[in-house]
Amino acid sequence: MLKIALVGVGTVGAAVADILRENKSVITARAGKEIRVVKGIVKNPNRKRDGVDFPLSADYKEATDDPQIDAVVELMGGVEHAYEVVKAALKNKKAVVTANKALLAYRRYELEELANGVPFMYEASVAGGIPIVRALRDGLGANHIESIRGVINGTCNYMLTRMFEKRVSFDRALKEAQELGYAEADPTFDVGGFDAAHKLLILASLAYGIDAKPEDMLIEGIGHLTDEDIAFAEEFGYTIKSLAIAKKRGDKVSLRVHPSFVSRKDMIAKVDGVMNGVSMIGDMSGETFYYGAGAGGRATASSAVADLIAIARGETSPMLGFRRANERQLSVARKDEIESKYYIRVLVEDVAGVLAQTAAILASRDISIETVLQRKKRVKKEWANLLLSTHKAREVDLIAALKEIGALAFVKSPPVMLRIES
Ligand code: HSE
Repeated sequence: MLKIALVGVGTVGAAVADILRENKSVITARAGKEIRVVKGIVKNPNRKRDGVDFPLSADYKEATDDPQIDAVVELMGGVEHAYEVVKAALKNKKAVVTANKALLAYRRYELEELANGVPFMYEASVAGGIPIVRALRDGLGANHIESIRGVINGTCNYMLTRMFEKRVSFDRALKEAQELGYAEADPTFDVGGFDAAHKLLILASLAYGIDAKPEDMLIEGIGHLTDEDIAFAEEFGYTIKSLAIAKKRGDKVSLRVHPSFVSRKDMIAKVDGVMNGVSMIGDMSGETFYYGAGAGGRATASSAVADLIAIARGETSPMLGFRRANERQLSVARKDEIESKYYIRVLVEDVAGVLAQTAAILASRDISIETVLQRKKRVKKEWANLLLSTHKAREVDLIAALKEIGALAFVKSPPVMLRIES
């Protein structure tokens, strides 16, 4: 029998216990032994909880230091306290399963050292019920990974889908996502792109062995999108997705999370609502695509239980996919090295010369315009939004051009740009 302790018995923790009960026979058959929850660690052990048939305690040491426990499942979230708990478990040679993406985003290489052969698994930390960690670490193990593009924040994706399909406002869409239980306790974590950034860093370690922190990445949220952006995207055959992107070029890997225009024909454009989708291109496999529920208790717990099965079977894959000291020669590309096609929105006074001067500034920096659209402001008729898309350009040039355009007398607010993923 594999005896486990759940540290955190919230939505996911309770679902782990449920799954182990409901699917006991198939899980035992696959694991080769029964997996049983023997203890739960919670803040308030006296609170009545449905379906909890194991003893509760408020002291995590009752999990990490109890000799009868084989594996600790960390589901409490946060970085520092979770690190303390996981460290104590590893020190006592207990296998660890976690769904904690923030912990891994900041401390995964330290944890890898601490684990030093003790199983440490984290399938549930990225894209909930999609077995993406195993797909990347094992299934694509023969490949150099050329790129990863993921819709890996269900909250943003739900909101963008609602904003496109029903034209609901950003605030309304966020409220709905919160009511449906998709959003993190602090929703800026979702809408600001940080949740997706943490998940991308985990995938980037598996794909590239790259040791980066959220601070090394370009992270932009979806809070600045407007109706005009959505209408432009629709008119030109795009949708807008918050994408987490890792792309290898030579010995550099660009890591970023930002809203992107995506062609409606692209598989990733079809990932709607709270669902997650990840496209990965391997140099041998070509593109592979993964789709499924990225949030929710049962889907996330399904991945945590898969890890427990692997532990029960005695699996000892390297935690981050690489034996230490291999493949670390790749480095993170600087934020100003990005090249892309761009969409630009400029709020202008609708007078002679506006388009000509804007186009001249872009041309002076060798940025070629692909399409142009002008939309009058409904409430202030003498103003208009000038909407442009460009061919591929260097981001440094585009930012400099936008700064110059923003300083023109007829421009009413700082220009906004979004990247077009192609
Ligand atoms: N808040 C996260 C999301 C939950 O919206 O995807 C799963 O990590």
